[in-house]
Amino acid sequence: MRTNIVHIGAGELTYEIRNIVNVGQQLEKLGVETHWENIGDPVAKGETIPEWMKEVVAGLAMKDSSYAYCPTKGMLATREFIADQVNSRGKVQITAEDIIFFNGLGDAISKVFGMLKRTARVVVPSPSYTTHSSAEASHAGDRPVTYRLDPHNHWYPDLDDLERRVKYNPAVAGILIINPDNPTGAVYPEAILQGMVDLARKYDLFVICDEVYHNIIYNGKKTVAVSDIIGNVPAIIMRGISKEMPWPGSRCGWLEVYNGHNDPVFEKYIASILNAKMLEVCSTTLPQMAMPKLVSHAEYDGYLAERVARYERYSNIAYDSLKEVEGIQVNRTNGAFYMSAVFAEGVMNRQQTLPIEKEEVRTLVEKLVSSDTVSLDKRFVYYLLGATGICVVPLSSFATELQGFRITLLERDETAFRMIFDTIAENIRTYLDS
Ligand SMILES: Cc1ncc(COP(=O)(O)O)c(C=O)c1O
Repeated sequence: MRTNIVHIGAGELTYEIRNIVNVGQQLEKLGVETHWENIGDPVAKGETIPEWMKEVVAGLAMKDSSYAYCPTKGMLATREFIADQVNSRGKVQITAEDIIFFNGLGDAISKVFGMLKRTARVVVPSPSYTTHSSAEASHAGDRPVTYRLDPHNHWYPDLDDLERRVKYNPAVAGILIINPDNPTGAVYPEAILQGMVDLARKYDLFVICDEVYHNIIYNGKKTVAVSDIIGNVPAIIMRGISKEMPWPGSRCGWLEVYNGHNDPVFEKYIASILNAKMLEVCSTTLPQMAMPKLVSHAEYDGYLAERVARYERYSNIAYDSLKEVEGIQVNRTNGAFYMSAVFAEGVMNRQQTLPIEKEEVRTLVEKLVSSDTVSLDKRFVYYLLGATGICVVPLSSFATELQGFRITLLERDETAFRMIFDTIAENIRTYLDS
């Protein structure tokens, strides 16, 4: 090429959650029976879609209007429905005009960070759901700016660390919160969220809060919607139907903008996000039409409650399996459906292995981990995959120096679920002792 056509941020775009699938598929070809515990898709993990939900969607599929473009911001009736839901909590008032639909939050995230001025940074959690940290880093063409989630304090944000990151880095213009969190499964108490909003107010920042798991909280934990405590701070709240319905294939999520007219720079920035969406015309129509019908269906609350109760039970099974394993640190998951385990410092080295019977599988794993640039947790994850077929994601791929792994709680079969966690516990012991 006579001129370099590669974007400055191209190197920041990695998504190990899906990359690891390539390795798993190679191993499957060699006869390894794989358990996919890497990706947060409840449907792929066997969640059956209830008949009533399918009937609602099928009914809409019979309407010609479902096949049309919709307004750029999204279907007005759906945006009004969402605004009514927010307003009925009585804490804050928004209108349909403050809501913009996207083709899933993935699309929203790439626009939110993509339209940010190159030199303006959003401080993201570490560990961080990769779509956020990669999109933010890519827009800046630099490593993500992060604040620490503390594995020794329920994975809560370290507010002192956050303040240091903001105070000493004038490029920071915003704070990203993910609550409930992926990859840690933490649910933040109101006081922590308030502390983060207060920091945003103190340093004149805006807040982005991803609340896609807001209705998947258990173990008696409580949190608040950030919009309820946002006061006068400019904010973007992210919500969607991928996890809750669950309907990830709908590619349907939305932004709620709070205090969008309080600050002229923020107002212009939001307008640019809307204009970027306008160039694409609009987002998926049918899921937007379905969303209010599904959420207000008589069966919806019971259906969601049944799933949430299962995640609660499984979060406790997972925690009980791993909590006594020496050399790792785990927290009980209280929301969403992920758990992150962290290896203690210094317990891993490049000599550790797991026994893999099949020679071709062992050879492939050894080849994959042979370079010194492969992180220690990725080494463990590849050995685990080769030895047991269990596919998890290295924690170091979630914008953190911590070494560990993320696993989902989505396997529906309880016997299989217990087997997976007990096998992981046993293999961590074998690996660390090898
Ligand atoms: C915190 C968080 N936000 C957003 C998404 C993506 O949602 P969507 O399917 O709407 O793109 C995910 C998916 O795992 C997620 O964990």
